[in-house]
Amino acid sequence: MNLLTIETTCDETAAAIVTDRLEVLASVVASQDDLHRRFGGVVPEIASRAHVERILPVIDEAIRKAGITLNDLGAVAVAHTPGLAGSLLIGLAAAKTLAAALGIPLVAVNHLQGHIYACRLADGEEVFPCVGLIISGGHTSLYRCRTPLEFELLGSTTDDAAGEAFDKVASMLGLPYPGGPAIQEAAQGGNPRAYAFPRAFLNDERLDFSFSGLKTAVRYTVAGPGKTDFAAIQLSPQQTADLAASFQEAVVDCLVTKAFQALKQTRLNVLCVGGGVAANARLRQRLQEEAARQNVRLHVAPLTLCTDNAVMGAIAVERLKAGLVEPLDLDVSPGVVRR
Ligand code: KG4
Ligand code: ZN
Repeated sequence: MNLLTIETTCDETAAAIVTDRLEVLASVVASQDDLHRRFGGVVPEIASRAHVERILPVIDEAIRKAGITLNDLGAVAVAHTPGLAGSLLIGLAAAKTLAAALGIPLVAVNHLQGHIYACRLADGEEVFPCVGLIISGGHTSLYRCRTPLEFELLGSTTDDAAGEAFDKVASMLGLPYPGGPAIQEAAQGGNPRAYAFPRAFLNDERLDFSFSGLKTAVRYTVAGPGKTDFAAIQLSPQQTADLAASFQEAVVDCLVTKAFQALKQTRLNVLCVGGGVAANARLRQRLQEEAARQNVRLHVAPLTLCTDNAVMGAIAVERLKAGLVEPLDLDVSPGVVRR
């Protein structure tokens, strides 16, 4: 059976065609980075308007690339939680319309569960039960993932998400949006020990994160306390590289430490990592080193499945197997469902 999966939780308009045997027939992602770049972050109203323009062409392209027609679809799945309300609504409206017009089931996808399912999809083997680390522009959380559909929150950020911190620090350093890839590149020639930035909760049992103190520390280092005019500051390329590398190392230290603390506390030995920040090369390297040292089975989503995409919506196959289909009055749930 062919499924159409739709993803519009934030600023990517995406559609994919997958089969109930988890084969990917087509994947289309229309990024909105160009629209949000000059604001240094996602502007929700711009995002939802862009989804309206792009959703039908993106779905059409996915169908065309898969070499099928709408009549070959057996179900339509859509990420309806969590995300930006206006963005979620566009994908949900498209999915409901197709489900009603074609007379096929509507399946709800939890975007965060999808980020972890990307690991299962890519590696083609069972990964559950596992600890799931989800790190993106909107979320930084650790879950005990009993099955693809049963997640228990172990800890999360108390303020900024890791990706948000990357984006904001990039903007302070005069680097482009999205900040993660820009900081990663700038950090290449930098010294990660040049600046001793803070690492919140590192020696604490709690499995939470905090990145706002780190962000403020970078800000004071760059501009001085109380100053906000970053445009007036001239950093040398070496200073930028050192700041980027030191910031990145601090984030990576927190993410790696907490993920392995979670494994210890839950006595699990499988770690799955997904979300845009999981694309970070330094993080991937540190996770691999630590996993090898501690004999942990590590699954990090491949680069194309880290940032938002519709392929991870293949988790809908698990819901269908469990008999979970939705009525056509399904609503969006912008906030995180805590369990
Ligand atoms: O998962 P995602 O595409 O969207 C959300 O659900 O938020 O994640 C986007 C975030 C952005 O904050 C971006 O800066 C970050 O992922 N990101 C990275 C890298 N690539 C993307 N952060 C660090 N290093 C990267 N290479
Ligand atoms: Zn995401």
